[in-house]
Amino acid sequence: MSEAKIIDGNAFAAGLRDTLAEHVREIRDYNHVTPGLAVVLVGDDPASQVYVRNKNRRAVEIGMESFEHVLPSDITEQQLLTLIEGLNDDPAVHGILVQLPLPPHISSTKVIEAIHPDKDVDGFHPWNVGKLATGGKGMIPCTPLGCMMLLRDQLGELEGLKAVVLGRSNIVGKPMAQLLLRENCTVTIAHSRTRDVPAECRGADILVAAVGRAEMVRGDWIKPGATVIDVGMNRVTKPDGGRKLVGDVRFDEAVKVAGAITPVPGGVGPMTIAVLLRNTLLAACRQHRLKAPACDEWV
Ligand code: GUN
Repeated sequence: MSEAKIIDGNAFAAGLRDTLAEHVREIRDYNHVTPGLAVVLVGDDPASQVYVRNKNRRAVEIGMESFEHVLPSDITEQQLLTLIEGLNDDPAVHGILVQLPLPPHISSTKVIEAIHPDKDVDGFHPWNVGKLATGGKGMIPCTPLGCMMLLRDQLGELEGLKAVVLGRSNIVGKPMAQLLLRENCTVTIAHSRTRDVPAECRGADILVAAVGRAEMVRGDWIKPGATVIDVGMNRVTKPDGGRKLVGDVRFDEAVKVAGAITPVPGGVGPMTIAVLLRNTLLAACRQHRLKAPACDEWV
């Protein structure tokens, strides 16, 4: 059997960013609105620092304004809530993202609920979670939406396909399942208490792995010809002592069975930031009552 098609997330994300940049230029020139994204980082976790830097860099690249707030890890919950209140009231800020995880003394639930739902470009506020679940127009979480864009590009119509989502996190698994359901897939969420995870996976036309366990999904868990989306980003030590990034799927095995598969890195990863920029543009357009043709799909 021939090897799977490798889904190029870098290329897709670059195309999306180009479309967004054009639209940002238009609303800046004609409507005098510059979309603004505030990114808040608490503490000095190196991986989070890299993500936050990339989010800001990409926002500026497409002509947005970026406001970076880096706070010490001993900041109080109240100080963080006060900062968010200020960002909610700031008309130059259209999108607010607080990088997770937060230090243990700060309640991420309280922080997420403090962000105004219209500025919640992560789509984590209960109002946006409810909108997604009930088919309304809210803000859709970035990583699952990025996965859906790749799936639709790869497969076209998804109606009637069997989709298995591995993992039930609020950030990826649950919203991913909601989006697949909205596309009329038959959806299963498999998780740590599922009786026979490989058997569930073998039934999937679409398999989305989002468990955060390095190379857990083996080649013989995959239905021949299935589309595999690997959300995992696991840093592991190689036999020579070096470090490398691997997904939740054993790529060398899966590529021989699947019909199409996202690599790690270069699959889902670049899509997350591109969709964050898309959500920021959408938020800016909604707040200024402007049309957002670049964001018309997936609202
Ligand atoms: N940490 C890991 N993924 C995410 C994300 O999508 N949004 C935020 N805010 N924090 C994260």
